[in-house]
Amino acid sequence: MAKYINADPTEVVLGPSTTQLFRNLSLALYDYLGPGDEIVISKIDHEANIASWVQLAEWRGCKIVWWEGEESPSPTAPTSSSSTSSTKKTNPHLTPTSLAPLLTPKTKLVTATHTSNILGTITDIRALSAYIHANSSALLCVDAVAYAPHRAIDVQLLGADIYCFSWYKLYGPHMASMYVSRSAQEKALKTIGHFFKPTHTLENKLGLAAANYELTASIPAVSEYLARTPWEAIAAHEEVLQGVLIEYLNSKPEVYTIYGERVADREKRVPVVSFTVKGRESKGVVDAIEERSDFACRWGSFYSNRLCEEVLGLDAVDGVVRVSLLHYNTGEFPGCLSFCGVSLAFVLRTFILTFIPCNRGGNQRVRQGARRGRVFVIIA
Ligand SMILES: Cc1ncc(COP(=O)(O)O)c(C=O)c1O
Repeated sequence: MAKYINADPTEVVLGPSTTQLFRNLSLALYDYLGPGDEIVISKIDHEANIASWVQLAEWRGCKIVWWEGEESPSPTAPTSSSSTSSTKKTNPHLTPTSLAPLLTPKTKLVTATHTSNILGTITDIRALSAYIHANSSALLCVDAVAYAPHRAIDVQLLGADIYCFSWYKLYGPHMASMYVSRSAQEKALKTIGHFFKPTHTLENKLGLAAANYELTASIPAVSEYLARTPWEAIAAHEEVLQGVLIEYLNSKPEVYTIYGERVADREKRVPVVSFTVKGRESKGVVDAIEERSDFACRWGSFYSNRLCEEVLGLDAVDGVVRVSLLHYNTGEFPGCLSFCGVSLAFVLRTFILTFIPCNRGGNQRVRQGARRGRVFVIIA
């Protein structure tokens, strides 16, 4: 597992979930923070990389500095989205430029998502970590849960101090991994383990004997498989797939608003495509799509409630319609592309023309894998 992300074995720990590992980490950082210190918390993150830091700030009397990122202009952006105000962004990015005014000598921790599970936008973590380390002594803590299923990971290259993702999003068991660099461990972490246990490794410090043995036994096989995975080819394929959907949504700006990048460029986004439909509830859209087709997509805020409500200006419950694509959505590649792209566009078009409100099911229909063997798979 350490090898897969290019870390030292003393720098990684397994746990039941990313949410749990961040919580463990926040306990281990208790003494690192004190009254008057500042934590810059990304508001475009999943709550897993927010709640622990809000709680820690409360416990330690720290100041929370919220970071909404900056709106990135897009060739096809609706005019109202060029705003840099604190609400109603549609394409926020976590950038060094937007972070710069928030960093002070008191900043001890900065949090960021590598990819939002709503926006699909890839944060340039290398640029962020370089900026933070050149301009402050703060640690950078990254949530990579929505990034990991789409790209290879090299923590040395990325330069973040803390980096966490979940194996169940990466074709593995329901577990998560956290990386904390040796230098960050030495600088900031106290063990939360029993007093008589060693404290040399991250596992010693944060593990709490919580990693399920049976599931852990599967990780070497999964990481070996992933190490052989042709990530470049996957990114290229996903770019084509998301391009079909994004192109369709862009063709009707009066109907659809995309949240995140409106271009399919693999350098900019992964194929987690979220949108709203003018005049329709997201729930109703998803219900109607499922009523009329075998496409499985989801609606809501996906635990990124602050992003949806406070940054995008959406209803925190109804949120967005989210379509998540993956490399294994292909079978016969060209056939699948035309099938899934054109068909989903067709379904959406039909739906818009013949909308009938429908209240069945909704988000209760949880991850169904490749729903009845069809094209769209929800994993994130
Ligand atoms: C971006 C992101 N971060 C964090 C999480 C939480 O991960 P876990 O379920 O392992 O706590 C999720 C779960 O969907 C997610 O999408």
